Amino acid sequence: ETANGTVNEDKLIMGTNAEFPPYEYYGDDGEVTGIDVEIAQAIADKLDLKLQVEDMNFDSIITAVQSGKADVGIAGMTVTEDRLKNVNFTDSYATGVQVVIVKEGSDITTVDDLFADGANHSIGVQSGTTGDIYCTDDIEGKKLGTVERFNKGADAVQALIAGKIDCVVIDNQPAKEFVAANEGLKILDTEYVTEDYAIAIKKGNDKLTEKINGALKELKDEGKVQEILDKYINA
Ligand code: ARG
Repeated sequence: ETANGTVNEDKLIMGTNAEFPPYEYYGDDGEVTGIDVEIAQAIADKLDLKLQVEDMNFDSIITAVQSGKADVGIAGMTVTEDRLKNVNFTDSYATGVQVVIVKEGSDITTVDDLFADGANHSIGVQSGTTGDIYCTDDIEGKKLGTVERFNKGADAVQALIAGKIDCVVIDNQPAKEFVAANEGLKILDTEYVTEDYAIAIKKGNDKLTEKINGALKELKDEGKVQEILDKYINA
């Protein structure tokens, strides 16, 4: 382990899943871009490290952090009690909300409709996300409906458009982008769960966690985090 706590002396390797606009996605230039990449770059600059972005399935990121394939998981990742058993999390840098996307005219009009007795909706999620975990526990686990898991949120949205599923549960910012990019979809007004996004680091790597918390605090105090959020999110 190096002075910064990174695997390589001169690099910060970011594991992410670039299927999550505006946090991470492929830009027109074919590079991964977005809020998380800019925040990671700003952190890397502060720590005098070169940022390397590794795109992978969302449900592989924690393993990549545990195995040292990535120094950090930065992927709009929600802090949960379960994940805290496997990784460290830094301080939070943003919040997200799980929302429900439906087709216009859907019989699902509030989040509660998903939990109604005999509802039996099929719900699309991105595999391994909190949307997946909540719906699996709260809905499928209680036999109130079924969960269809997709590698990409965008694929869940396409399945919704094709009428193969009844709704998609996903974070609010990508939801807004998916709804804007496709006709005939809407986000329900009622929200499912509010969450904190933070950076995942190998469990017990307190050195890197402290370094990144220090850099994050500076970036927050300088207004840089807010500036990056504002650049990608219009209120
Ligand atoms: N916030 C959710 C979670 O942590 C979804 C994150 C998905 N991120 C991504 N880059 N695909 O489970």
